[in-house]
Amino acid sequence: MRSEIKENSRGDPLDKFAPLLLMQGVTKHFPGVLANDNVTLEVQAGEVHALLGENGAGKTTLMNILYGLYQPDAGKIILQGNPVNIRSPRDSIALGIGMVHQHFKLIYRHTVTENVALGLKDLPFWFPTRVVEKELREMSERYNFPVEPRAPLWQLSVGEQQRVEILKTLYRGANILILDEPTSVLTPQESENLFKALYKIKEEGKAVIFITHKLEEVMKIADRVTVMRKGRVVKTLPVAEADKNSLSQMMVGRKVSFQFSKKAVPPKDKEEMLVVKDLYSLSDRNYTALKGVSFTVQSGEILGIAGVSGNGQRELVEVITGLRSAQKGKVMIRGQDLTNYSARRVEKTGVAHIPEDRLRMGIVPEMSVSNNLILRHHYRPPFAEGPFLKIRQIHSFANQVIEEYDILTPSLRTPAKLLSGGNIQKLILARELSSKPHLIVAAHPTYGLDIAATEQIRYLLLQQREGGAAILLVSGDLEEIMALSDRIAVMFEGEIIGLLSASEANPESLGLMMAGEHQEVLRS
Ligand SMILES: Nc1ncnc2c1ncn2[C@@H]1O[C@H](COP(=O)(O)OP(=O)(O)O)[C@@H](O)[C@H]1O
Ligand SMILES: [Mg+2]
Repeated sequence: MRSEIKENSRGDPLDKFAPLLLMQGVTKHFPGVLANDNVTLEVQAGEVHALLGENGAGKTTLMNILYGLYQPDAGKIILQGNPVNIRSPRDSIALGIGMVHQHFKLIYRHTVTENVALGLKDLPFWFPTRVVEKELREMSERYNFPVEPRAPLWQLSVGEQQRVEILKTLYRGANILILDEPTSVLTPQESENLFKALYKIKEEGKAVIFITHKLEEVMKIADRVTVMRKGRVVKTLPVAEADKNSLSQMMVGRKVSFQFSKKAVPPKDKEEMLVVKDLYSLSDRNYTALKGVSFTVQSGEILGIAGVSGNGQRELVEVITGLRSAQKGKVMIRGQDLTNYSARRVEKTGVAHIPEDRLRMGIVPEMSVSNNLILRHHYRPPFAEGPFLKIRQIHSFANQVIEEYDILTPSLRTPAKLLSGGNIQKLILARELSSKPHLIVAAHPTYGLDIAATEQIRYLLLQQREGGAAILLVSGDLEEIMALSDRIAVMFEGEIIGLLSASEANPESLGLMMAGEHQEVLRS
């Protein structure tokens, strides 16, 4: 592969006016899915080009094709007027294309410099890392992207690891930098820093392709945006000619309301449904994941737990729902001490769990929709009488909740795993909420869902709140936390680092706490 293209494959000189990148008529099938359907994308040098679409729209697939991870079934890739054949990431890197994935591909026991140097050719034989280190320091200065080249990777926060990935890509000479949903692992401040660096990068004449499903981000940093829906391009337009409403309509295919009405729940008869006191627990890897966590959740209240993922949220949910043991401290549910009781016992006390890992924990994937709907309730009336399951009761219950929760399924007998993500989540909520829980522990309830399903799930949670349930909402999505919560606790490194009422919270203050800055803790 040539690293610099001066002529096309026929030997014609390069067309100066051709776009930096043109993907033309790209089509890609996966078994049962048309992930990209005749997609055309044109990207200019010196622009941030947003690739906007809901989950499953085909954004990652398109970029994986450009990066050489997948071969398209049809279509062309043309760089500065020159058709190219990209068979692997090695080819794309040689052509100046770099991609930072949602899940990083770094080596944890290596230092930052070693990670960047890995696989580089043309390094001096003696002390090769010195050259890389020097260049890295210069680059991190230039982009205002602080990283310590000698730090081992395991010491870095997720945000810092992302910087390493970006610097590594630029070090390899990327002219086209692809970032796949980069802000999903960042605090608001880290996102701001990233945006500033992207500004510098585009000023140098490089192109940035920024994959996102967040409209605010498009409006904030992109010059142009290409909207995808169901594998197709809906439109490419300058951001100056777009607004949130028009973009969301293109993305979803219909009008979307961003308004939620959160009704006040009268304070009378409030009951402390969940009291967590000085809780300690170990992670799977045996470090202390919870370090003295305390809070309460009342009936008719949503307590949001904000934080960058990996700061103890998962362990907290598991200890409360009986899936992980506490080393110390207490979990009181409706006045009963349920510390270290089984998940079944906790559930019987009136606790619903909307798990983070839907497919593994929320459903039995091979089992039918109707059986999934009565899972864990099947041994009780009205579904069972002695040892016999009552099929007719089960079916009428299933039909009723399918209607009520608007679950799209071909039939009651369809295996649950064949439903879309949003419908699987609605199935889980239907089952969990039909037992009229007093406490709902919801972990990332709308993660990865499309806008319509997200709206429905949020509406259902607010409805439960109005009905007097207490809700512990763990979410990495600040917008969701702020839209739904009455109070917000921020977790950082296993502690509640701040607790505020929703009315005094804003993205800046929450972001600072998510990055570990202590704020006054409200005692309420
Ligand atoms: N490796 C794969 N095998 C099978 N199906 C896939 C694969 N990658 C993506 N898909 C499917 O292709 C569609 C588009 O996915 P993707 O490109 O990841 O969307 P996006 O990045 O916009 O969320 C989805 O229906 C997804 O399930
Ligand atoms: Mg994707």
